[in-house]
Formats: sequence, C-alpha cells, structure tokens
Amino acid sequence: MSLCIYSREDFSEARRLLGHGSYGEVLESTEIRTGEVVALKRVFLRFVSPTYFPISAFREIQAHSCLNHPNIVSCWGVFSEPHTVTLVMEACLCDLNTLMEHSLGLAEDKARGVLRDILLGLSNCHEMGLIHRDIKSSNILVRENGEVCLGDFGLARPYRRGCLAGSSGGWEGKDAQLTAQVTSRWYRSPEILFGSGVYGPPIDMWAVGVLAVELLTGKPWAAGGSDLEQLSIIVAQLGSPEKTWPDVVNMPDYSKVSFTPCPPADLSVALGGSPSIEILSFISALLKWDPAARLTAEAALKHPFFDPSLPISSIAGLCAEIKSSSAARTSLPKSISFESITCQPPE
Ligand SMILES: Nc1ncnc2c1ncn2[C@@H]1O[C@H](COP(=O)(O)OP(=O)(O)OP(=O)(O)O)[C@@H](O)[C@H]1O
Ligand SMILES: [Mg+2]
Repeated sequence: MSLCIYSREDFSEARRLLGHGSYGEVLESTEIRTGEVVALKRVFLRFVSPTYFPISAFREIQAHSCLNHPNIVSCWGVFSEPHTVTLVMEACLCDLNTLMEHSLGLAEDKARGVLRDILLGLSNCHEMGLIHRDIKSSNILVRENGEVCLGDFGLARPYRRGCLAGSSGGWEGKDAQLTAQVTSRWYRSPEILFGSGVYGPPIDMWAVGVLAVELLTGKPWAAGGSDLEQLSIIVAQLGSPEKTWPDVVNMPDYSKVSFTPCPPADLSVALGGSPSIEILSFISALLKWDPAARLTAEAALKHPFFDPSLPISSIAGLCAEIKSSSAARTSLPKSISFESITCQPPE
C-alpha cells in the first residue's frame, strides 16, 4: 500500500490521548480536508540530526508499505517534525488489553471471533514475509464494530524475500542472526528465551497461544519477572522440553540453565471452567516447545476450533459498553494544543 506524505497542518488539534507506549504516544485528531477521524502515532526522536530516523518508525512504515488487510490496522501516511515522526492511522476504539479490563475473560464463542481475526491478520503478515515480533494484548486493536486488527509494527521485520516487491532490503537468510530482545517477556517464545537468534513466524504463533489463554481467563498465562522465571513457569506448564523438542540442547543458552524435570500440567486447570476439547487442542498446538511443531497461522485457521458448526459471536456489545464508559480513552481538555500534550521523549 503506498503511503502519503502529510504535514502537521493537515490535521486538527489533538482531541484525546488514545494510548502511549515505549516509543511515543497516539493521539486522536481529524484530517481537515476529509473530516476523517484519525489516530496520529508520534514516535519521538531520541536525538535530532538530519540523517537520523528512528528504527521503530522505519520498521513500521516499511511494514505498512507492503501490508493491506482488513485485520491489520490501516496506515495512510506519515509526516515529520523536528522531534517526532508521526504515522497517520485509522482510529480504533481501544486495544485488546483495555477490552480485557472490562471482562473477566471472554466466552469461547467470542474468543473464537477475536482469535480468527488475529490469525487472518497474522497469516497475511507471514505470507508477505514479515514477522510481527510483538504480539501482545496491547498491540491488538479493536474497532467500534467489534472487529480486531493487528497494530504496532514497530518491531516487525522481513524474514524472507517477498515483502517489498523487487527489493531484497532487510531480507535475512535462514541462518541470519536476529536479536533476542523482541516480544514482551510474557509472550516470548522458548527459542528466544533460550537465546536463539534464528527464528521466524513460530515466535508470533507462540504469542497467539499465550494470548488465547489470556482472552479466556482475563489473566496472563505466564507472568515471569525475568527470562529465567519465564522459562521456569513454562517448564511447570508444559513439562521439561527435551522429550518433545530434541533440538533444545543446541539452543545457545541451554547449558546455562537447568530445571527439575517435571511432567506437563493440565491445561484445562489453567483455563478454569470447562474448556471445550477444541480449544484445549488448539491452544496446545500453539504452546509447543518445538517451534517447528507449532501450528502456522494458516493451519491454525483450519483447526477444528474454527469448525463452522461451532458458535462464533461478535464482541460488538462489549465495545459499545466500552465506548459509553470513559475508560477506553483519556480525554484531554478541549483547548489544549498539539504540542502541550506531548510528554518528554524517553531517555
Ligand atoms: N490506531 C489506533 N487507534 C486507537 N488506539 C491506538 C492506535 N494505535 C495505538 N493505539 C493505542 O496506543 C497504544 C500504544 O500504541 P503502540 O503499541 O502502537 O505504540 P508503541 O510505543 O510502539 O508501544 P509499545 O510500548 O508496545 O512498544 C496501544 O496499546 C493502543 O492502546
Ligand atoms: Mg505497543
């Protein structure tokens, strides 16, 4: 999708703070020419120089220049100012984390719809040769009509030739080393936790498995305070890795850690209530130690959990409740100017 170059003057003063993250803030505004409500994601420049451009904004622009899918947030363009680069995006209601704060876990029929939307977006992303690398509830956006789409492509990167037709920019071969400092810890896959710099789409699929548990229970599945603790929680849930993932012994940090051997725990206990056989089988097929054994996004969409005979419900009602409450968005005083609501760039 080709992106437009905008200028600050194309937009009204910001009305609300839609959210903020480690790179900047997201403000609601209106495009003056069209009257369209937009989300302006402002990424702060850590230092100002004519040649400097923040890598996260670069990754995000690069990703959006080749992605165009109903389950991926639309990005229409970009503009820059001395201290910020701003992406112009569709304005969504809230993120999935906010939605979860309004419900103590979703029923399976609702979770099915949300997970299907996420997998459709991810399947397109992987098909285009990109790994998202930061799937988590606060990076999944929810539209007012209850549709869900992938947001925050600030860590996304190509993993094979294919994205950006005719270009090999950013392409890495199978053995290229990628950074292990990706994905928020609670969603971080075992291969990354064991220090591997060779990974691909399965890291996103692990995160979807973690997210699926969170959607159903309203709580994180494995909330480790350090990488070591994260791994030990996973061992307690899935059992020791060696039996189902022989290659674990070749992971860079395998010899640096040791865990008491243990059998897998019962996933239905973590899910509480009485989960269906389909959802247990679906989540188990994502939360696999061995990345090669995890479902791909395409295969996940064909799993019996998505059998057309099973009920699927929209979260539109929940979205309407959120919209009518003030919690989803932080309102700003009407008179406030664009600059004055901008917090300081992160150190
Ligand atoms: N298009 C949008 N519409 C509505 N809200 C949005 C939109 N984009 C982002 N947000 C909100 O702003 C928050 C921060 O946005 P985003 O995750 O893109 O920024 P970030 O700085 O890259 O975050 P992170 O801390 O994950 O690195 C999101 O969690 C979400 O609540
Ligand atoms: Mg984010």
